[in-house]
Amino acid sequence: MKIIFNMKELRLWIILHVVLLRCFHVSGTNGGLVVRVSVPQYRIPGEIAQLRCDYNLGNDSLYAVKWYKDHEEFYRFVPKQRPETISYSVEGVDVDMSLSNNNTVVLRSISLKTSGLFRCEVSAEAPSFSSAQSEARMDVVSLPKEDPQITGVETEYQIGEEVNLNCTSGRSHPASILHWYINEQQIVSPTALIHYPPVQHKHGLVSSILGLRFILTARHFMGGSMKIKCVATLSPVLWRGDRESIVQSLPVKQMREALLLVRSDSSGNQPYYASTFFAIIISMFFT
Ligand SMILES: *[C@@H]1O[C@H](CO)[C@@H](O)[C@H](O)[C@H]1NC(C)=O
Ligand SMILES: *[C@@H]1O[C@H](CO)[C@@H](O)[C@H](O)[C@H]1NC(C)=O
Ligand SMILES: *[C@@H]1O[C@H](CO)[C@@H](O)[C@H](O)[C@H]1NC(C)=O
Repeated sequence: MKIIFNMKELRLWIILHVVLLRCFHVSGTNGGLVVRVSVPQYRIPGEIAQLRCDYNLGNDSLYAVKWYKDHEEFYRFVPKQRPETISYSVEGVDVDMSLSNNNTVVLRSISLKTSGLFRCEVSAEAPSFSSAQSEARMDVVSLPKEDPQITGVETEYQIGEEVNLNCTSGRSHPASILHWYINEQQIVSPTALIHYPPVQHKHGLVSSILGLRFILTARHFMGGSMKIKCVATLSPVLWRGDRESIVQSLPVKQMREALLLVRSDSSGNQPYYASTFFAIIISMFFT
């Protein structure tokens, strides 16, 4: 028997609805002062991010707007001071002062270190001195530039022989999740899957490795050929345990829609959810 390989690759992108990219958090009110922060939920390195802090002072006048990342102050707007705005050095935070003001802060050249919890704190002048705050997370996601690779492919296999393959994802942050499919059926058997530790690269990037091991049988060639496929998925929404609450707060339909889109080929906007696969088609010809 002769086995012929036909490598096929396909890069699929999915765009999450803009609703998924914005994450709002309304703080408790304090003396009528209401603060609402809105930051992009996901960004990719090199982009800019606009953070907004909306507030209603009622009859009070503003004393200060302060921004913190993971409890470290990086920007302050105090209308009675000169200059009105000050920025403080915080790792991963590069404020574009010309675009930042009383309710907007623009961060430029975002990196993986920019990920974090952003808090806006607003305080009022005398006599109320009331203050209120609101916070939201922004995660910086680095999509893989490379497709997953299948290695360990022999040039010939016999029925009854063991097939032993590895799938290695492209470098990303967070790590990609890998799945193997044989003839479109996802392999879930723990004896067939070998989990290797992820490989750490520079700049916090990671590649995942998943092994596949099984005995070749005639059953695998029901349609005359067998298709082995490795799918790498990067799903920040599903990846973060603490993101679940946000996903669940969206209408279920929205989420399903996003997941269904995994198989469509989209272009345009920022790809925040990537899925790529790399398949081997093994065709058997009986001679
Ligand atoms: C604001 O001031 C106006 C007029 O002084 C007053 O009628 C109103 O009740 C005040 N609002 C609040 C929330 O204190
Ligand atoms: C921010 O500043 C602009 C102009 O300087 C002003 O019109 C606006 O009311 C201010 N917004 C708040 C929330 O203080
Ligand atoms: C798969 O990768 C692991 C870890 O790098 C390695 O030890 C193993 O030999 C590889 N197996 C194959 C079939 O290439």
